[in-house]
Amino acid sequence: MSALFSPFTLKSVTLRNRVAVPPMCQYSATDGLSNDWHWAHYAGLARGGAGLVIVEATAVAPEGRISPACLGLWNDAQAEGLARIAAQIKAAGAVPGIQIGHAGRKASANRPWEGDDHLPADDPRAWPILAPSAVAFGANLPRVPRAMDLADIARVRADFVAAARRALAAGFEWLELHFAHGYLGQSFFSPHSNHRTDGYGGDLAGRSRFLFETLEAVRAVWPDSLPLTARFGVIEYDGRDEQTLAESITLAQGFRQRGLDLLSVSVGFSTPEASIPWAPGFLAPIAGRVRAETGLPVASAWGLESPAIAERVVAQGQLDLVMIGRAMLADPHYPYRLAQALGVERPSWVLPAPYAHWLARYRLYQGD
Ligand SMILES: Cc1cc2nc3c(=O)[nH]c(=O)nc-3n(C[C@H](O)[C@H](O)[C@H](O)COP(=O)(O)O)c2cc1C
Repeated sequence: MSALFSPFTLKSVTLRNRVAVPPMCQYSATDGLSNDWHWAHYAGLARGGAGLVIVEATAVAPEGRISPACLGLWNDAQAEGLARIAAQIKAAGAVPGIQIGHAGRKASANRPWEGDDHLPADDPRAWPILAPSAVAFGANLPRVPRAMDLADIARVRADFVAAARRALAAGFEWLELHFAHGYLGQSFFSPHSNHRTDGYGGDLAGRSRFLFETLEAVRAVWPDSLPLTARFGVIEYDGRDEQTLAESITLAQGFRQRGLDLLSVSVGFSTPEASIPWAPGFLAPIAGRVRAETGLPVASAWGLESPAIAERVVAQGQLDLVMIGRAMLADPHYPYRLAQALGVERPSWVLPAPYAHWLARYRLYQGD
């Protein structure tokens, strides 16, 4: 019995296995609207056999997009396009999820393959950026954001709520709040980006407040029966790791008390000065610690595509879900490869019948 290919139930939702596709921006939208690229991309990923497919970071407001080509969910036309995608993911047997977020001081940037840097402020495609404090990220993102006032904070919280309502109406069954990767949520938490002296900054309670209030407001409109999750960077690799991790675990305990159902454990990316120890599965033991100390189910990503590692982190209780990103871009049927490698009986069954039937006795090229 493979632990990775065992089902996972959270609230009223059951995933057919523990392989999840994490959100991955396609930088291919116009005015926040999805198009045929997104439809085909997500249909292909869902047909590959993963239990959960999470649609990429989708902005709750125009100024919250990372780039002008990011998806949005601030109007009904955007929700209509996303509804077609959610329906297709579900038709392929995966649970449709979506990540909603606001890019904060990292917004208004070029696509990664066009420089990954801030658009200059005088570029006609650029827009003014917002953050907890008027502090730039630095490096390739040098623009100084405007510090949000209390009205901005209330508006962005309302934008998250409106996007959550639209996501529900569009048929998504799994909602992920993007509180990670140096974007707006993470930047309220991190002392690198939050220098506020009011109730939304300073001590741990102050730096947690925007995240708690946003979570509570979304939980009030997202059904109790469906998973509400968040992605958060619990560590920065900036030399203060034990302190950040301890604070992050306290934050996650607060998330749990406020109705969060699962935490997707990631890296903070709040400073360009970080020194991240990239290695296969490097984050899994940290995610396992968050799981043990909070009692929250956890997912994580970053180099978990080896079948042995993916199986082990679930079997040993470090992760509930294994997120596999770039390997799914290389091969959307990667769950089939994992099932084969792990000796799952009838591995082709993770694929839809029109593929599975022909692959049942077919021997793929094995490098011989
Ligand atoms: C093309 C691309 C786009 C990404 N976009 C997002 C995103 O929208 N939201 C997010 O939280 N992470 C994003 N990430 C990070 C992935 O979710 C994932 O954590 C990362 O790819 C590491 O997993 P892997 O080693 O299996 O690829 C992106 C990664 C890639 C490669």
